[in-house]
Amino acid sequence: MTAATSGPVPVVVVGAGGMGRAWIGTVLGNEAAQLVGVADVIEGAAQKAVAEVVPEERRAGIVTGTDALEVARRSGAEAVIDVTIPAAHHPVTADALHAGYPVLGEKPCAATLAEAVSLAGHSEATGLLFMVSQSRRNNPHLHEARRLADELGGVGIVDTRFARAPRFGGFRDEMEQPLIVDMAIHAFDAGRVLIDGVPESVTATSYNPSWSWYAGDAAATVSITYESGAVHTFSGSWCSPGIETSWNGDWVLSCEGGGVRWDGETPPTAHPAGADEVLGRTPGPEARWELDASLTDFCAALRGGLVSDSEVHANVWTQAIVEAAVRSAETGSRVVLAELLDEALEQAAALDAADGRSGALLAWKTGVSGLLAG
Ligand SMILES: NC(=O)c1ccc[n+]([C@@H]2O[C@H](COP(=O)([O-])OP(=O)(O)OC[C@H]3O[C@@H](n4cnc5c(N)ncnc54)[C@H](O)[C@@H]3O)[C@@H](O)[C@H]2O)c1
Repeated sequence: MTAATSGPVPVVVVGAGGMGRAWIGTVLGNEAAQLVGVADVIEGAAQKAVAEVVPEERRAGIVTGTDALEVARRSGAEAVIDVTIPAAHHPVTADALHAGYPVLGEKPCAATLAEAVSLAGHSEATGLLFMVSQSRRNNPHLHEARRLADELGGVGIVDTRFARAPRFGGFRDEMEQPLIVDMAIHAFDAGRVLIDGVPESVTATSYNPSWSWYAGDAAATVSITYESGAVHTFSGSWCSPGIETSWNGDWVLSCEGGGVRWDGETPPTAHPAGADEVLGRTPGPEARWELDASLTDFCAALRGGLVSDSEVHANVWTQAIVEAAVRSAETGSRVVLAELLDEALEQAAALDAADGRSGALLAWKTGVSGLLAG
């Protein structure tokens, strides 16, 4: 496979479930990419998704099949979008990288922190870009909140309150930590847009209200301390009917010169101490949102542009916060990320040794130094 230097990036979407369909639609609507193939392990699933999502006049030439790499080769793809289930992220992404395809993967980076660290190593070993699409960080209102906070001296305290009452059915109802693992990951990642530097430790409590329809803990309070001393506190529930927040949650940012509020849906407002409220800017029509923004950044990087802040090494911190929150909730103790990352590095190196394709992690002195150098 030889990468072109200009023009739309031909991509294969791997995983044709609910989110795979959203990605197919996103690729079709983005001029930086071209849909050339769709793959799914379930026989007929890729063809079905193409028939349902791609307009008839654009279907010709889209290759489908059950083997992602075979579809990528036959279709002349230059890159892979991995929208499989989390348990398949590690094999699908590692195989694509070693076959010469840069990867844009859906969140989470992988099923475990160790697998995520391993994928950072596979990206180093192949020299190819692996970027994680953490779509909710691509929200222009969130970046406007950051700008307003910077004008007030920079944020020191971030509070997120999240309350919804969805009846999903399916795997979320059975997970041990549905809120932290499947939803709060977005808020943790968005917090990293607002606070500079790396997170240092996490303390969490999780619980399940008596009326909950989830088997695992549908509510949690998580406190993330950054090296700078800034703290992000998340308090959320997936079974709180009545007074619900937006899907992004309600945000209050505290800075030396005042505060910023964001309801997760409309432009944020700044509240300078002793002065009138300032309404944040409304994004223009040129603004890129969510999946579309991830895809635009990914294609731009492949065409020689800047590598996005969701490149795998940077994204692993978000997964580390999730895993630390789960461990803290289970043990009742504060979890130090440097220690958790060292543990993950050891497990990832063992995974890679068994796999035999990447020795990149052997050069990492610690989990933290490897992520920061990458
Ligand atoms: N960004 C968001 O807001 C958001 C929302 C929902 C889901 N997601 C993420 O998107 C991903 C997919 O979620 P979903 O809801 O579409 O799941 P899904 O179960 O609906 O679809 C996943 C598909 O992947 C296929 N698959 C599994 N293993 C595969 C393999 N090895 N090769 C090819 N195909 C394989 C399955 O057959 C299935 O069709 C997950 O990582 C999930 O966390 C993100």
